[in-house]
Parts: sequence; C-alpha cells; structure tokens
Amino acid sequence: MGGGATATAIAGWGMYLPEYRLTNAQLERTVDTNDAWIVERTGIRERRIAAADETTSSMAIAAGAAAIKDAGLAPGDIDLVIVATVSPDQICPATSAFVSDGLGLTCGSFDLGAACAGFAYAVVVASSMIATGGIGTALVIGSEALSRFTDPGDRSTCVIFGDGAGAAVLRGGAGAGAGLLAWDLGCDGSAAALIEVPAGGSRLPASAATVASGQHYFQMQGNEVFRRAVRAVVESATLTLDKAGLTPADIDLFVPHQANVRIIDAIGNRLGIPPEKTAVNIDRYGNTSAASIPLALAEAAAEGRLEEGDLVLVSGFGAGMTWASLVLRWGAGS
Ligand code: UT7
Repeated sequence: MGGGATATAIAGWGMYLPEYRLTNAQLERTVDTNDAWIVERTGIRERRIAAADETTSSMAIAAGAAAIKDAGLAPGDIDLVIVATVSPDQICPATSAFVSDGLGLTCGSFDLGAACAGFAYAVVVASSMIATGGIGTALVIGSEALSRFTDPGDRSTCVIFGDGAGAAVLRGGAGAGAGLLAWDLGCDGSAAALIEVPAGGSRLPASAATVASGQHYFQMQGNEVFRRAVRAVVESATLTLDKAGLTPADIDLFVPHQANVRIIDAIGNRLGIPPEKTAVNIDRYGNTSAASIPLALAEAAAEGRLEEGDLVLVSGFGAGMTWASLVLRWGAGS
C-alpha cells in the first residue's frame, strides 16, 4: 500500500484484440450497407469480434497482464483493479471479480460504468485514490465485447461497434508534474435514451418478449449523439486545458474516444489540434467504447509516439451521456 500524498505516473500499458477481423465487405453481405458508406460516414474499415470462448473479462485479463508486465511489476504489486465496461460478463457479479480472479488478485476491485468515457473516469478515480496515499498502484482496464450486445441486423450499430481491451498501470511516487495534471468529468442524464440497452435491468427485466423485440441490444440515435458529442468534448477539453494552464498548442498527442472519424476531425478542428497530433485507430478497430482510449494510448506508446514529458489530452464521451477529459504528462516526472 502507498504512503503519503503522491503524484501518479503511467507505469505500463497493455492491449488485447480478438483475432477475427470483420470487414466492411463481409457486412455488405449480411446487412443493407456498403463499404463506401461506412468508410465515408465513420472511417471504419474493419473491427475485431471476440471468439465464442472470449469474454469481456478474458480480454481484460490479457490486457491487464500485459500492462503489469510492461510496468515491470507482478500481479501482487497491484492494490486496486477498476474495469470500465458497458458490456459486462454478467449483470452480477462485476466483471472485475472475474478479472481479479484471473490475475490471482484479492485487492479491491470494481466495475465502472461510464460507457465510452469509462476508462478516463477510471483514471481519475484511481489517480485520486493514489494521491490520498490510500493505495500505491492501480490497474485500470477498459474492456468491451460489444458484439454480444449488438443486433447483427441493425445497420446503424452493427457497422460501428467492435471488441477489444486496453489497460494501464498507474503508480504513485512519481516526480513533480507527472501523471494526471487536470481533469473534467460530466454527465447529462436527460440524454440517457440516446444510447441504451433497454431491457435486462430492473426497469425492464428480461423476458421472452424483450428478447423477441431485440431490446437486449444497443439502440442508438447516432445523429443526435454526434451533435452533442462534439459540443461536450470541445467544452470539456477546453475547460481541462484551462485548469492545467495550457492551450491546445501545448498538446503533443490528442487521444480521443474512437467513435467516428468525422467526430474526431470536428473536435480536432474546433480545438485547433492537427491530425498529425491525433491518435486514430478507428479504421482498424471500430468503436470499442471504454476500450478505445486505452487501446489508442497503448498503440501510440508502442509506436514510439509518446516520449517522457509529452503532454497528452484524452477525451471520451458516450452513453449517459457521459464525458471526460484528462491532461496527462507522460513519463515518471522529475
Ligand atoms: O461511442 C459513443 C457514442 N456513439 C457515437 O458517438 C456515435 C455517433 N454517431 C455516429 O457516428 C453517426 O451518427 C452514425 C455513423 C451512427 C450514423 O451516421 P450519420 O451520418 O449520422 O447517418 P444518419 O443516421 O443521419 O443516416 C443517414 C442515412 C440514413 O438514410 P436516409 O434516411 O437518409 O435515407 C440512414 O438510414 O444513412 C442511412 N444509414 C446507412 N446507410 C448505409 C444508416 N446506417 C447506414 C449504414 N449503411 N450502415
């Protein structure tokens, strides 16, 4: 366990992607869509789909184990596990219970439900707990098996969503100016109906009728989500940069939630952050909700796009509607 108040460094990263690639050409054969529409309207060319024996927790375990290894630690060094997900293994228990068991851990462990902003929310929670000295090291994971909750016949969702997991190890004891410099979290619950899985909870318990009408699948009013997402992210990112005493020109890498390349472009244009400073992998993985930000961060780190001291702006938004912005300084600080 940790000692006194401390800054948090991002000590390690990991990711896991299922092997199976579902291409736009394959989707053309099963729903009324086409490659040109999907590429032009979303930027997606293919997405990964979990195999029958894979789950949100199995992908989280793989990404989490990779992050622990990347940090040069052993599972026993982890004091807290947070799994951000909107596609849990089961309603009960939390997916994090299966993840902790898979990693051989008995420390505190819980799920965080903030949809596509979930990973960013979890980084704020874990960093804050580290800063109090209550814990020393946290494993934060975003993992999704969205394909299990997507109607394969609904072209407004099945072309968008993909599966995968990304993870980070957050560690206290970093030098001054490291880790999470500023953040903003928000949620406008009046827009909750814009993205939902209507059935299977206490509001509308699962029944033969809810299954027959497909209410156990994601339903999304994409157009309205698009409009609100751009506005919320630009406002939240601007506020967070302000809190950190920075401007968009100071940012070395912008890591947005990968929902739609047009949303990413619109946000980048409004903030004044150029494409070469923006992490984009939606073409290969689609929208993986809570997994998209850690996947993009882990890829950027693996590609050498992040150096000690770099300033990173992270922004997420999703069902709720939630949003989250982080300004991070990469590395252990001095
Ligand atoms: O992860 C966080 C939350 N989610 C998001 O951020 C998603 C945000 N929204 C989006 O990414 C976009 O709104 C979508 C990609 C979901 C849809 O793109 P759009 O440009 O907003 O399309 P639209 O819903 O306005 O539909 C335009 C047309 C419609 O046809 P009509 O009515 O103009 O004849 C749709 O029926 O495109 C049609 N359409 C499609 N056509 C071919 C919708 N989906 C498809 C499809 N293939 N897959």
